[in-house]
Amino acid sequence: MRMEVISSAGTMFVVGGSASKLLSKELAKCLRCELARVEIKRFPDDECYVRIEEELDDSDVFLVQTAWPDRNIMELFLLQDAVREFDVSSLTTVVPYFGYARQDKQFKPGEPISARALARLIKANTDEFITVDVHAPSVIDWFDDISAKNVAAYPQIGKHLKGKGIELVLSPDEGRKDHAKRVADVVNCEADFLVKERLDGETVQMTPKNLGVRGKKVAIVDDIISTGSTIVKASEQLRKQGAARIFAVCTHGVFAANALDRLKGVCDEICSTDTIENPTTCISVSPEIARTARD
Ligand code: R5P
Repeated sequence: MRMEVISSAGTMFVVGGSASKLLSKELAKCLRCELARVEIKRFPDDECYVRIEEELDDSDVFLVQTAWPDRNIMELFLLQDAVREFDVSSLTTVVPYFGYARQDKQFKPGEPISARALARLIKANTDEFITVDVHAPSVIDWFDDISAKNVAAYPQIGKHLKGKGIELVLSPDEGRKDHAKRVADVVNCEADFLVKERLDGETVQMTPKNLGVRGKKVAIVDDIISTGSTIVKASEQLRKQGAARIFAVCTHGVFAANALDRLKGVCDEICSTDTIENPTTCISVSPEIARTARD
């Protein structure tokens, strides 16, 4: 039997893409609505096939699919189109991890503004948009005439770290120091930041800084862990300065190539949220998305 309806227009459904299965399930629980049955498969030539096995007419639909890597972006577009084939009351596209957000401007002539290109395509087929800790806040502006919201993961990250005896929350670069401070406020401890310079896609350099961490448990928090170079460099400083335990926590666990192995060599615990489902996922951002969805 179908669970009852929060919307005045009709039922509410969460439609989950294959990149966001865990999160879709959790979000449906938080919204107290149904998770739609969806068939998703690949043809022998790797083209994607989707089919929504529910009646969505008159429903408010939350479509959840992380937009990374590329094959999941195509699946997202097909799911949007499939939802639109019904006479839905509303479609909110939830993109937990918005890929390409690091290319939010032209760094060299001739480049695309990749984040904007993706935003335009998603916007073309949705009424509302929600994402989580998007790397470039300008992404939200590209949804100009529809409702677009950037949900913060820090309350759930802080909640996860609370009770682990963390004494310092560290941002590996100045740009994310406010994020570290917000996490630290939930944990109820100090926050600090390092000064990072990115030399190329895989190499970063950190200015040494005395952090006063001897014998302390420290959490390094970042929005994305990709190659792991940022966290490895920060952890090396912490180790040299005698930190007792190092926790690496990110919203989006991309973990490119051998990043996880590199991190396991320097960190005691590695944890990420369910915006990208991976072996380190241990925090759900679903309560934050649900709160925003209800606003
Ligand atoms: C950079 O501004 C981001 O906040 C992350 O620090 C960065 O994406 C991490 O990348 P990596 O793991 O490759 O060092």
